[in-house]
Amino acid sequence: MEITLGPAKPIVGTFDVPGDKSISHRALLLASVADGISSLRNLLHAEDPASTIHCLRALGVEITQERAVTQVQGRGLIGFRRPTVHLNAGNSGTTMRLLSGLLAGHSFESTITGDDSLKKRPMKRVIDPLTLMGARIQSAGDKPPLTVIGTNPLTPITYTLPFPSAQVKSAVLLAGLYADGETTVIETVATRDHTERMLNISPQMRNDGRMVTVIGGTRVLARDMYIPGDISSAIFLICAAALVPDSDITIRNVGLNPTRTAVLDVLRGAGLDIQVEITSMSSGEEIGNIHVRFSPAHKPIAVNAAQIPWMIDEIPALAVLAASSGVDFMIAGAGELRVKESDRIRLLVKNLRAMGVSANEEPEGISFEGPKTITACRVKSGGDHRVAMAFALAGLGGAGRMTIEDAHVSDISFPGFWDILRSFQQ
Ligand code: S3P
Repeated sequence: MEITLGPAKPIVGTFDVPGDKSISHRALLLASVADGISSLRNLLHAEDPASTIHCLRALGVEITQERAVTQVQGRGLIGFRRPTVHLNAGNSGTTMRLLSGLLAGHSFESTITGDDSLKKRPMKRVIDPLTLMGARIQSAGDKPPLTVIGTNPLTPITYTLPFPSAQVKSAVLLAGLYADGETTVIETVATRDHTERMLNISPQMRNDGRMVTVIGGTRVLARDMYIPGDISSAIFLICAAALVPDSDITIRNVGLNPTRTAVLDVLRGAGLDIQVEITSMSSGEEIGNIHVRFSPAHKPIAVNAAQIPWMIDEIPALAVLAASSGVDFMIAGAGELRVKESDRIRLLVKNLRAMGVSANEEPEGISFEGPKTITACRVKSGGDHRVAMAFALAGLGGAGRMTIEDAHVSDISFPGFWDILRSFQQ
């Protein structure tokens, strides 16, 4: 499917965005090993969490969906049934990595596979710590499919993350539930902390970083949880409103966990008019409203290595916002972007150049000088949901009619995205 979008009329009103993807995966995974039935409201109904549900069902977990409520019948900590089929994580790295942590503590063999994009993504990062804990993991040269031969109990470890990754941290913490003692993860840069919050773990702050400890054998409690809207989806509406003259929007009930909101500070620093109010909490997660008025960036957007992990998923939108606003853009220390759903550094640079932006590709970053104009063109999504959605912003912002090839990939995280954007057309 391809989508062509041109300049938008003023975007005005109140919007909701689908449930947070990271929280949806974790809520499903933890509910499946909990004691009792969990009710999850506003779970993200998109392809990635559907992959998690698909894998969990193959492990014997009963999951029912009725209107906005998803019920998960927890099977207890060591309750997964040995699967009779390969577990298919689809496009979802979070599913594969976090589920590996739970499977490491189950004494059976199972294989997790995925689509062509996932099969190219690095898994050594979870294989290493889970092997230290006693699981045996076979892979195709450190890439999927992963065959996990679990054991119980696992050996507790203290693991310093070699680079910031919430997925690796979470895989180790989930495996730590099955260890014979305390498992500790040390991270020098704090990454999104949804797993810790759901497990009620308070981190210890030390000179060498943030230390998170899980006690083996801790029973997971069933929960009733409202899943907030995903700030990584809201970013596209935020940038759209900032780029289209006379826009004025409120996005309701968005997750405002401070490990996810740094992008708002960067945008404000670039001159965007954004206001935020926290209105409630659910399962330890801040929820609130984001208010944005027309205000293209008028100062450079620069993100350094230390800030990257806090806004890793928002970089595609930030790059297109900078190009559409005509401001300089520079990100450094962002090598992780090369191993996301696509090589995002390469793909972003290719698509930016197609719009006439003289973008530089660096091993771990992207830079360009604010272009005087950008040209509407045809770009490829490269099978990457966030890249597809980001380049639509250039069309809305007035570059002309942008065509996005393979645009259906937005269903990975934001079903209904193109309907919302079509409703903005002049
Ligand atoms: C995620 C963590 C990030 C992020 C991904 C979701 C998570 O990945 O890019 O979209 O839910 O933990 P890394 O942990 O690999 O940085």
